[in-house]
Amino acid sequence: MKDDEILHFLKANEQSLPILLFVFFILFVLPLLYFYRKTKKVTSRQSTRPKGDPQKFASDLVESSDRTEALQDLITNTKYLKEDEDLIFCMDLDFFQKNVDELKEAFPKNTLHGIAVKANPATGFLKYSQELGLGAEVASLVELKQAIRCGFSPEKIVFDSPAKTRNEIVHALKLGVTLNVDNLQELETVRDVLAELKEKSGSLVGMRINTQHGAGDIQATSTATLTSKFGVAIRRHREEIIRSFAKYEWLNGVHAHGGSQGCSLQLLVEGARILMDLVQEINQVREENGYPKLCFVDIGGGIPTDYSSVRPSNLFQRYAQMLRKEVPELFQSQHRVITEIGRALVVNAGWSIARVKYVKATGASDKNANQRYTIAITDYGADCDVRNSYMPGVWHRRVNVYRPNGQLKDTRHLQLTDIVGPLCFSGDLLVKGRRLPSITKGDLVMIHNTGGYTLAMWSRYNSRCAPMMVGYTAINKSFKWQVLKSKEKQERVLEFWD
Ligand SMILES: *Cc1c(COP(=O)(O)O)cnc(C)c1O
Ligand SMILES: *[C@@H]1O[C@H](CO)[C@@H](O)[C@H](O)[C@H]1NC(C)=O
Repeated sequence: MKDDEILHFLKANEQSLPILLFVFFILFVLPLLYFYRKTKKVTSRQSTRPKGDPQKFASDLVESSDRTEALQDLITNTKYLKEDEDLIFCMDLDFFQKNVDELKEAFPKNTLHGIAVKANPATGFLKYSQELGLGAEVASLVELKQAIRCGFSPEKIVFDSPAKTRNEIVHALKLGVTLNVDNLQELETVRDVLAELKEKSGSLVGMRINTQHGAGDIQATSTATLTSKFGVAIRRHREEIIRSFAKYEWLNGVHAHGGSQGCSLQLLVEGARILMDLVQEINQVREENGYPKLCFVDIGGGIPTDYSSVRPSNLFQRYAQMLRKEVPELFQSQHRVITEIGRALVVNAGWSIARVKYVKATGASDKNANQRYTIAITDYGADCDVRNSYMPGVWHRRVNVYRPNGQLKDTRHLQLTDIVGPLCFSGDLLVKGRRLPSITKGDLVMIHNTGGYTLAMWSRYNSRCAPMMVGYTAINKSFKWQVLKSKEKQERVLEFWD
């Protein structure tokens, strides 16, 4: 139609124009408005939902019957969870032992498995680890002293840290623990100290290599990136690294730790592959110099752990199998293999129990005045779970709610709930907006998989006393409890601020 034709048409149908407009509105404008509103609703709902796999959240309320039994025993047969004890960390020592057994079985017999002390340094727990035949990986003078104090012999201790002081180095070399230098400057300090020592040191000395093959899913726990602060960067310093091993006979091991959580097994194996290629080059130049081959290859830890489940998997077998396939020389040479695993050994062996101190109802919106939103206040705060508070989508915490007598609460009627800690900042949240059974004052919240990197990262914010950690074993459901770490005394906290 041309313009004058349209005008003519409109003139002829002047009376029916409102009807035409109405039809146009119904057919085109209404559906558009409807779709616009709908998509807007969906996106706003998604943005308040925690990140992560929805399946994981669905499995949140699945009961762990072993733990329920342990909790009931804790309530009825021990004195630990009494009226004024509102937070306790528990270690299932049988579960831990199974992890250790699986690890030992997966690797050659002479492998030294050093548990990463930083993951759970509780005295009773480290003593138990030592009795199971583990070694210890430490990263400060106090961690080193703690390991010695808990019964680890020096030849089973590996000392890593990117910031060792000269004093720490002297102490370590005198003790005879294995020491991994982190950089080429530290190597010179170790050389000088070795020359000054009156007695020959029994230490093995290795060099930490940054294999620079990439990051995992979590930047904060990836250590093999191009610019990681850890180790000597292999791409930049390959020549210097090899030269150092040709120069110093006492430098007789290599070390790489590719990261922690978020790094796939495949990524860790790639790191080990790069490390073994380097070992072969090093051994060749050492042979030419008349030096013995390297004594140890330390592949670090960093085995990823499933926080959504409490069941053990064949993690260590799978890891060792992949290493056998892709890095066969690792297990076939003269050197001793060292591992430094923390998380995968300890995290899933632990759970915590927090008493609900107060409950608030809140959150009714303008549209839904009846919607109940519960806030449960406990002592499980950001101070004992720093990582979860600051990166809640990454470190997902699975929880169950129990009655004060240890009976699991009915999971048929769920309510939107926040479980929060005692600290004075809003980010002090254990779980946010999760659908949980109705919580009342005095109920007990079980937090799963808190066996590592929780109390170990204790924060002094608000100056609270660090809670106790207990451990248990059970034969035929007959539980035996022991204190692994006692509750911190108020005087100790006051002393900290002196
Ligand atoms: C933290 C750390 C480990 C342990 O890492 P996990 O992820 O707990 O297995 C091992 N070695 C070094 C050098 C570490 O810094
Ligand atoms: C555990 O119970 C089983 C069956 O009741 C029994 O045969 C076994 O001896 C018990 N074990 C111990 C260590 O008590």
